[in-house]
Amino acid sequence: MNTSIICLGSVLQMSIGKQMIFSMGLFLFTPALLAVPSSLEIQANTCNVCHGEEGLSQGSVPSLKAKPIAYLEQVLLAFKADKQVGTIMNRVAKGFTDEELTAIAHYYAELK
Ligand code: HEC
Repeated sequence: MNTSIICLGSVLQMSIGKQMIFSMGLFLFTPALLAVPSSLEIQANTCNVCHGEEGLSQGSVPSLKAKPIAYLEQVLLAFKADKQVGTIMNRVAKGFTDEELTAIAHYYAELK
């Protein structure tokens, strides 16, 4: 009698434990399921402040949207290395690694 109560108790404990792990898992994975912008989109948002939404400029700052990847990549790396001199872009480009600039260049080149 006593052993069966203990047995039932541990089965209950086990199932509660599993449920907790399951719901903790759900809790941990929920943010990944929401439409959270990628770090690349967050980086691009800093560019869009000047270059316009999705890099489509409404003013005198050049557009970035759908420009050739080779051009965007080359000009960003050139700004970073001070091989091309601009008013602001040298400072902006220095805030990113070469890999990040390449990824951002791809991001804008691939916008349709
Ligand atoms: C503070 C405003 C500002 C921000 C922020 C900014 N840019 Fe620029 N960008 C400019 C201006 C102005 C130019 C023209 C060159 C210059 O004067 O520096 C330019 C030029 C460029 C060019 C050359 C375009 C062409 O057609 O020759 C590229 C590529 C570029 N920016 C990419 C970016 C990227 C990528 C970011 C974000 C990481 C960014 N810019 C953030 C203002 C900005």
